[in-house]
Amino acid sequence: MATEQSYIMIKPDGVQRGLVGEVIKRFEQRGYTLKGLKLLNVPKDLAEKHYQDLSARPFFPALVDYICSGPVVAMVWEGKGVVATGRKMIGATNPLASEPGTIRGDFAIEVGRNVIHGSDSVESAQREISLWFPEGVAEWTPAVKPWVYE
Ligand code: PPS
Repeated sequence: MATEQSYIMIKPDGVQRGLVGEVIKRFEQRGYTLKGLKLLNVPKDLAEKHYQDLSARPFFPALVDYICSGPVVAMVWEGKGVVATGRKMIGATNPLASEPGTIRGDFAIEVGRNVIHGSDSVESAQREISLWFPEGVAEWTPAVKPWVYE
């Protein structure tokens, strides 16, 4: 059985502010495995599909414009509990409610510039990974695995 995976995306503000390395460092140091990684400018239809459940919300057009405003870093991270733990590492949606020590709690102020996205469930992760990585992701097992998992 495949290990749990999450779709993690550094949004345009995170890329422009030079936070790509910081985010990757946190997931790597936690022990998670990078399975997919690409920098891309997001076509509007992809942003709309990603956030399709929010299409009736008043902030939807601004959210789509924001995601399309510059390159994002799309990633797949794998490991035990990565969906829920990734969300904890990211912090609350509204950065002002995010605890210090979380990514948003350390680097963001506004909900409309909250630096990073993480899947909110295993099912969402599967949908988002298929959407952003239709080509599939890398197959590899890090040599350090026995030193992360008992
Ligand atoms: S909600 O209101 O509970 O449906 O929202 P939530 O599930 O917490 O957030 C869903 C995504 O919408 C983004 N969001 C916003 N963007 C811009 N402006 C406003 N006001 C706003 N409110 C929510 C929020 O950052 C979530 O994006 P992701 O990329 O999933 O974190």
